[in-house]
Amino acid sequence: MAAIYTFSLILLSLVMCLQLSYSAVDTMHHGSSLSVEEPKDVMLSPNAMFSAGFYAVGENAYSFAVWYSEPNGRPPNPTFVWMANRDQPVNGKRSKFSLLGNGNLVLNDADGSVVWSTDIVSSSSAVHLSLDNTGNLVLREANDRRDVVLWQSFDSPTDTLLPQQVFTRHSKLVSSRSETNMSSGFYTLFFDNDNVLRLLYDGPDVSGLYWPDPWLAPWDAGRSSYNNSRVAVMDTLGSFNSSDDFHFMTSDYGKVVQRRLIMDHDGNIRVYSRRHGGEKWSVTWQAKSTPCSIHGICGPNSLCSYHQNSGLKCSCLPGYKRKNDSDWSYGCEPKVHPSCKKTESRFLYVPNVKLFGFDYGVKENYTLKECKELCLQLCNCKGIQYTFYDTKGTYTCYPKLQLRHASSIQYFTDDLYLKLPASSSYSNEGSTDEQGLNCSSRTIKIERTYDKGHENRYVKFLVWFATGVGGLELLCAFVVWFFLVRTTGKQDSGADGRVYALAGFRKFSYSELKQATKGFSQEIGRGAAGVVYKGVLLDQRVAAVKRLKDANQGEEEFLAEVSCIGRLNHMNLIEMWGYCAEGKHRLLVYEYMEHGSLAKNIESNALDWTKRFDIALGTARCLAYLHEECLEWILHCDVKPQNILLDSNYHPKVADFGLSKLRNRNETTYSSFSTIRGTRGYMAPEWIFNLPITSKVDVYSYGIVVLEMVTGRSITKDIEATDNGVVNQHLSMVTWLKERQKNGFTCVSEILDPTVEGVYDEGKMETLARVALQCIEEEKDKRPTMSQVVEMLQESSR
Ligand SMILES: *[C@@H]1O[C@H](CO)[C@@H](O)[C@H](O)[C@H]1NC(C)=O
Ligand SMILES: *[C@@H]1O[C@H](CO)[C@@H](O)[C@H](O)[C@H]1NC(C)=O
Ligand SMILES: *[C@@H]1O[C@H](CO)[C@@H](O)[C@H](O)[C@H]1NC(C)=O
Ligand SMILES: *[C@@H]1O[C@H](CO)[C@@H](O)[C@H](O)[C@H]1NC(C)=O
Ligand SMILES: *[C@@H]1O[C@H](CO)[C@@H](O)[C@H](O)[C@H]1NC(C)=O
Ligand SMILES: *[C@@H]1O[C@H](CO)[C@@H](O)[C@H](O)[C@H]1NC(C)=O
Repeated sequence: MAAIYTFSLILLSLVMCLQLSYSAVDTMHHGSSLSVEEPKDVMLSPNAMFSAGFYAVGENAYSFAVWYSEPNGRPPNPTFVWMANRDQPVNGKRSKFSLLGNGNLVLNDADGSVVWSTDIVSSSSAVHLSLDNTGNLVLREANDRRDVVLWQSFDSPTDTLLPQQVFTRHSKLVSSRSETNMSSGFYTLFFDNDNVLRLLYDGPDVSGLYWPDPWLAPWDAGRSSYNNSRVAVMDTLGSFNSSDDFHFMTSDYGKVVQRRLIMDHDGNIRVYSRRHGGEKWSVTWQAKSTPCSIHGICGPNSLCSYHQNSGLKCSCLPGYKRKNDSDWSYGCEPKVHPSCKKTESRFLYVPNVKLFGFDYGVKENYTLKECKELCLQLCNCKGIQYTFYDTKGTYTCYPKLQLRHASSIQYFTDDLYLKLPASSSYSNEGSTDEQGLNCSSRTIKIERTYDKGHENRYVKFLVWFATGVGGLELLCAFVVWFFLVRTTGKQDSGADGRVYALAGFRKFSYSELKQATKGFSQEIGRGAAGVVYKGVLLDQRVAAVKRLKDANQGEEEFLAEVSCIGRLNHMNLIEMWGYCAEGKHRLLVYEYMEHGSLAKNIESNALDWTKRFDIALGTARCLAYLHEECLEWILHCDVKPQNILLDSNYHPKVADFGLSKLRNRNETTYSSFSTIRGTRGYMAPEWIFNLPITSKVDVYSYGIVVLEMVTGRSITKDIEATDNGVVNQHLSMVTWLKERQKNGFTCVSEILDPTVEGVYDEGKMETLARVALQCIEEEKDKRPTMSQVVEMLQESSR
């Protein structure tokens, strides 16, 4: 194997040399310049990942930029990482980018005028400009011994921050105007005066901060305002740290070839990554998971709504019409200007709408009548937000002087009463959707990524290079072929548990199973879907035979589902040996698990800390496989200790797909779930609030299971004790834990099940508890994916 790697490395460097040999320059010396008219006047970083030069950004409009090199040369929409003159593009003729004799770097338009310059003067004759492997364009002066940096593009970012690029008190990321218009837009990432990293919307007529949530004090948003060093940086692995205590890790944390953080044109900051040029970028982190809470996204007098399936939508509020048909940031304007006379106004009730800012005070404990009266008295009052607060038990009235940042929110108690001319006949029905026009911004989902291991990635990488370089194709193809044979030749891929072989799945007769289970005499488990019996098959294998209760499913349908499940294979997934479908009998035959369920073992205290950690990791691997790796996308929907079985070595295997449905992976939601599935105590809030069901419901249940394993406290017992219904289902355990997490788990032993004996690794246990708490976030987007869970647990056991 080692020999092949070495060989490929040599091959790789050969390919890179070839690429370089026909590129223009990698260093500019003083007195030289790049011309807009010469397509070959491009600088290339030594690793060929970045290019710098002139790029067309409009008709006869060119900017001097740094971008990610693509295998096919110059695509129409490259991934820019820096731009000298985004707001002042130059002419396509006679424009020049030059390093003058005095060390100054200037960009001249066709008429010779200076559009941009570094304003640097150096007496040295050894000034040179180069494009580094990191994407940094650097002007250096060669002194006696070492190079001194005079200027670098990393110090004046445009909208992108690259790995290792330090974001400072002087830096700003400013979004582009739209997906295609690269000039400065309305959104800025910067360090505010209180040392906190924030997002600012600076629109055509209003501005305001919107991240972190403006109503939160820095401390409540998890930020610190005490560290005035004001620096932030993302490393190549995808970890971001800021001096205000803000940090995150991308969903694909680990070695990735290309990664960038960008202030996107739609007001969100995102991290994108991809494995190599030419591929699509995937989002691996974003700051705001609720796009409607980004200010100005739909402009004034409009309503933002977001649905997971259809994405973000802007529409005018009733009585308003669009101002600019091509650009939502201008929002809507009144169809008829309202009169100031009290008698000439009326209110239109628009439920479930929340607006932010521009209040004429906060009037607590107002009746609706008092609230309306107040608004009528104010000539410039455009409507009122009337909100019920659970905690106070009263309504609060917010007279609105402007209607901005309105979003439609279900499940909340915010209502809008719009002030409209009395003569108007706008109604709530239809009006809001009357111009159900699409917003310019697309919605972007975090990709479900899963690291398939180094070998695979290496193969892909090689394949790309192979296609990119004609002459070496044959040689490469041979290497790739060799690789594939070597890697897939191994049946058991080991560490991550994917097994490719599928052995012995078959159909059993009813009499055969009746005999094996001695007439269904030895019951070993009982669930919603049926009863499980122990049995010994003719070939002496010990099996668990599950007899399904509601056997009204047709044979064909049953078979389709069963053979699907039979095709799944993972070392942490219970293996199905076969099935029986005869008359009204429907049975499933599984491998028998020596130690029964996790539920039984937690109770009996048979598990030490190492076993508990391994069970958590194995279960996570299995769920990640079901969610992200196997051909059919599967949700388990009933993850609980009763469904996690343990073999003779206490390795976990996930069981019971009685409730799961096999679906096409492309479908993001399970709209066809008509009834609630799952077990009380382990069910995610989405079930209760009737929200779209995604793989995050399993993540939630998994979190609860892990918490039970860590703390030794049982969820279902908690429920029985309080019996306050779903809302309070896990109050005691979770609030207790969160309290302790706030104090940073100063002592992990404090939360651990005191009845478990043996030594434990503090770091591992802390990770386990932290991950589990993330998994049970109320908001599904805040929960990690199962593969992220695997990653985090593996990280801590290294
Ligand atoms: C890009 O947006 C700016 C600012 O709105 C505008 O002035 C410019 O004309 C736009 N450029 C193009 C090519 O649409
Ligand atoms: C951020 O902090 C974590 C832990 O403190 C560290 O492991 C990581 O390397 C840091 N990342 C960067 C980019 O400094
Ligand atoms: C402030 O932040 C910087 C960068 O994250 C860190 O190195 C430094 O130790 C912090 N200072 C204090 C007092 O916490
Ligand atoms: C609408 O916006 C576009 C782009 O900003 C601008 O070019 C156009 O002039 C605007 N139209 C009107 C009617 O204001
Ligand atoms: C709200 O106002 C009503 C009537 O003015 C009063 O009876 C009630 O005590 C008030 N409630 C609160 C919580 O202040
Ligand atoms: C909105 O977008 C969808 C698909 O993106 C498109 O089919 C539809 O025609 C658009 N509607 C309008 C009014 O532009």
